Amino acid sequence: MRGNRLILALDVYEQDRALRIATATAPYLWAIKVNWPLILGSGLGVITKLKKVTDLPVIADLKLADIPNTNRLVSRKVFEAGADYVIAHGFAGRDSVEAVMEEGEVILVVDMSHGGAKEFITPATDGLVEMANELKPFGVVAPATRPERIAYVRERLLNGIKILSPGVGAQGGRIRDAIKAGADFLIVGRSIYSSQNPEESARALWEEVRRWS
Ligand code: XMP
Repeated sequence: MRGNRLILALDVYEQDRALRIATATAPYLWAIKVNWPLILGSGLGVITKLKKVTDLPVIADLKLADIPNTNRLVSRKVFEAGADYVIAHGFAGRDSVEAVMEEGEVILVVDMSHGGAKEFITPATDGLVEMANELKPFGVVAPATRPERIAYVRERLLNGIKILSPGVGAQGGRIRDAIKAGADFLIVGRSIYSSQNPEESARALWEEVRRWS
């Protein structure tokens, strides 16, 4: 595992800005996560370019939740562009997740960081963790905003399946709490890319991750 446990959520539109921030912060990152804002703003080719300038793994956070055939068609294009992991929802069912897994490595959402997560996804966590234990994806997503949910997932998840936790910083989650609860990787977006000095913000977060690791 190169670098440390910090993942940059690069939710900007413009390619030049994305590449500038990625290049400056790369020494402090394990991976870069791209989501719809960047893919829609800059095109799928931005994944290829990010990998070229940083040599880091790229996670495509598409939160796929379609029928198997559509999940397959979408994820194939994203893996072809160079993505190393695709984030998928599990609630569409096992066959939909397996379709993505046939194309490449998957990260499964088992809970979410926002308030509305409590309406539908938190009550479904047990079944989603069970699915993860059977399908053995690279990892699952659980929220740093509710570290008790990370601990809940960690207790039930097979060893070896990683927990990736968004929600640090802008959403109020804290690195220390997430790591102590069992997070393997911390996903941070706005606290890095919206700061005056993304490189310095990434470095400070990297240090904090190391302190609590
Ligand atoms: P911020 O700016 O809040 O960005 O640091 C967080 C990034 O992570 C995504 N996100 C989530 N993804 N489950 C997920 O799979 C979640 O609970 C979750 N919460 C935030 C968000 O889209 C952004 O890219």
